[in-house]
Amino acid sequence: MKIPDIIIAIDGYSSTGKSTFAKLIAKHFGFTYLDSGALYRAVTLFAMENGWISADKTIDLAALKEGLAGLDAHFGEGGTCIGDRCVEKEIRTLEVSGNVSPVAAVPFVRAYVDARLHAFGEQGRVVMDGRDIGTAVFPDAQLKIFMTARDDVRARRRYDEMVMKGEQPVLEEVMKNLKERDYIDSHRETNPLRQAADAFVLDNSEMELHEEVCWVQGLMQGRFGILE
Ligand code: DC
Repeated sequence: MKIPDIIIAIDGYSSTGKSTFAKLIAKHFGFTYLDSGALYRAVTLFAMENGWISADKTIDLAALKEGLAGLDAHFGEGGTCIGDRCVEKEIRTLEVSGNVSPVAAVPFVRAYVDARLHAFGEQGRVVMDGRDIGTAVFPDAQLKIFMTARDDVRARRRYDEMVMKGEQPVLEEVMKNLKERDYIDSHRETNPLRQAADAFVLDNSEMELHEEVCWVQGLMQGRFGILE
């Protein structure tokens, strides 16, 4: 049976493995994967490189607003780009992670990213992950998943990921960054992170990736009669 042109919205806390899971199911069902957090990270990198974020995380909002008017953040072959520059690696550092939540709380930044996500997602057949995809960006998404996992599991995953990239993180700092982001992301005024009423919850604290895929296959079968 042909898979309908649906949008799969995946939201949840930081480092719950949303992007790994989203990429895998996109590949499995032949959908396009879109990482909304990457656009918030690109805006943050752009602001940092221009000196618009101070050490105490105060943002020069006037400069950022003006700068965004000329910013071309998008997804290219090698990942996230600013204009013709690939910034996929730079946006994943702990420095960017430390500044991204305050930037993502700014309403005009959210409007900038939302406009791009809509342009990418409108044709359907996309898996998009983030914090407000099922609640605000695509509230009519046909399948919504809310991902969560225990704090210690999430911090360890993020830590291992950074070590794999050759960084030398401190586990306590990684945990602190996670908790700070969770707090800001779920307490901001504009479109905070929360579970959509019609989302299916996936707690993967004790799950392997292949079990998560089986779980979503079950959902697709139950909701759309798709056996894949
Ligand atoms: O998924 P991520 O860790 O790459 O996201 C980076 C930050 O961007 C995250 O701390 C919160 C913000 N974000 C958001 O506010 N809304 C989204 N839809 C996606 C990410």
